Amino acid sequence: MIAEAPWSRDLDWPADLPPFDPFDRTIQSDPYRHYAWMLEHAPVLRAGSPESRFVFISRHAAVTAGLRDASAFSSVMRTDVAVPGFLLNMDPPQHAEMRRLVSRAFTPRALAAVEPVITARVTAGWRRFLAQGGGDAIEDFASPGTIGVICDVLGIPDGQAAQMRAWTNESIDHLGQVLRGVPGEAVGRAGYDALLDAISAAMDRAARGEDSVIGNLAALRDEGVLSRAEAAGFAGLLFTAGHETTTLMTGNCLDILAREPGWLPLLREPDGPSAFLEEALRYRPPVHRLARVATRDIEVGGALVPAGSNIRFMVAAANRDPRQFGDPDRFMPRRAEAGSAAFGYGIHLCIGAWLARLELRLILGCIGATTERLAPDPDRAPVPLTGGAFATVGLRALPLRAVPSARA
Ligand code: HEM
Repeated sequence: MIAEAPWSRDLDWPADLPPFDPFDRTIQSDPYRHYAWMLEHAPVLRAGSPESRFVFISRHAAVTAGLRDASAFSSVMRTDVAVPGFLLNMDPPQHAEMRRLVSRAFTPRALAAVEPVITARVTAGWRRFLAQGGGDAIEDFASPGTIGVICDVLGIPDGQAAQMRAWTNESIDHLGQVLRGVPGEAVGRAGYDALLDAISAAMDRAARGEDSVIGNLAALRDEGVLSRAEAAGFAGLLFTAGHETTTLMTGNCLDILAREPGWLPLLREPDGPSAFLEEALRYRPPVHRLARVATRDIEVGGALVPAGSNIRFMVAAANRDPRQFGDPDRFMPRRAEAGSAAFGYGIHLCIGAWLARLELRLILGCIGATTERLAPDPDRAPVPLTGGAFATVGLRALPLRAVPSARA
């Protein structure tokens, strides 16, 4: 009979690596040395606290196979909590039906219409950052920019963006606690309700017959295809799933550029922003682990994973698996190997990847075109994101110095 995966604390870790603990803030700020050891010695591993136990799966083949198998690995974390329109926590067949319906809001025309608005927002934001000689790239540039872009897509007025950001952050904490049992001081649902009300109001304002994302969602709601709660809930998911992820990814790209300014010229080549971005998504993705529940006893990598286990598929570790990517710890745009798991795999593959890619390519292209020099601020250190769910990893603050080029 096969045995369950070993407990992290029972393994013989190297002297300078404490056993993997997902709640340890030092490990959260830089988990990659742990991932490398896990990939080699413990590709299926149990860890966590007595109240929150998880099975961590890290190798690329097992992560991608598991994410493709929605019947063995469910995305429904709690059967007693219903969050309408929250695609991320649905299983087939409900998931397929809801995803098919909401996808109808993203018509090519609706997407083409937002591109110039996003370009203008990104360019203005980066030029402001350059004009002030830099600053905290997260607070002064990435975070207001990414929330603004989702507001643009959903027709929320610019003046409401700061308020939407506060409600989004509150919603992320609330939903994490309710759906995934993330520990921490209880966060009520007032912020989430306010977010959904603002979205419903934007749908009410959207012109009838207007081919925009919000107009199309409003039409699906008004035709009774989606309930009022589902339409607002799905649009709310665009905020909660799209804001923090894209903010952290912008920070990760800027951090790479500031530490290795030799990459700036690449951003001036026609496909340079895209090549840089795809490798950055592999090398430092903002989402590190995806949650599932085993629906039955199943064997993974030679270990028994019993029914009911809380699984964490470690997409960021899979992206550094040497079985999939040569020299995985090296940042190497235009590498030959494909298969980054940054946007997931299978039925839940990120529905906002088009928007994230568009926005990040525009940011990188704009930096290439306007920036002479980007460097870490010698007087202030970056602050890693720690605490919370440890599903996302990146920087909470990134102080940079920035010098415009003569062309800017
Ligand atoms: C760099 C930025 C982003 C990254 C790395 C990212 C990553 C991911 C990943 C890994 C998943 C799969 C989750 C799972 O399988 O459990 C996902 C799903 C999703 N993402 Fe993103 N995301 C990003 C940006 C966005 C944006 C901008 C939006 C929307 C505006 C968005 C909306 C969604 C939604 C709605 C889902 C759920 C899809 C489903 O369950 O069918 N994401 N994302």
